[in-house]
Amino acid sequence: MTSDNSINRRGFYAQAIFALNAILGAALAVPTLVYLLVPGGRRRKETFVDAGDVSQLTPGVPVEMSFQQSRVDGWRVLTEKRTAWVVKTPTNEVIAYGPQCTHLGCAYHWEEKPKQFICPCHASLFSLQGKVVAGPAPRPLDRYVAKIENGRLFLGPLRQVSSGDAA
Ligand code: FES
Repeated sequence: MTSDNSINRRGFYAQAIFALNAILGAALAVPTLVYLLVPGGRRRKETFVDAGDVSQLTPGVPVEMSFQQSRVDGWRVLTEKRTAWVVKTPTNEVIAYGPQCTHLGCAYHWEEKPKQFICPCHASLFSLQGKVVAGPAPRPLDRYVAKIENGRLFLGPLRQVSSGDAA
């Protein structure tokens, strides 16, 4: 009787350990499989940040706008200051350029006299439409994905633009 009880108890413990291992294995495997199998773009939802009021912008006059954007870095959420050069077109569309030159990433600025964006590092020039006018910049200014709601500009990710797309 004692030896039967001992075998049953051992069997129970063995099964309990196997069950616990299976639960722990599943708990580790499910998030790992989701991470490996679900493409990053589907996991990361496109988020838009309120960059400010654009209802008063004058068409054809770029304005540098600052805004705060949060991003997750490991377990921390960091809030960073970002900027965009924002232009309202004559047809009331709004284009938001990334603040860095597409050559080596220097900050550029708008010059009213030649009506061009000028990068002081290696003298790249960009038109109001973001096209390369002169200098070593290899492509037009990058653009934020942008949308307007109630006169406010909401900016998403920054995207590269090919020469043919800059209009
Ligand atoms: S970084 Fe702008 S021209 Fe080189």
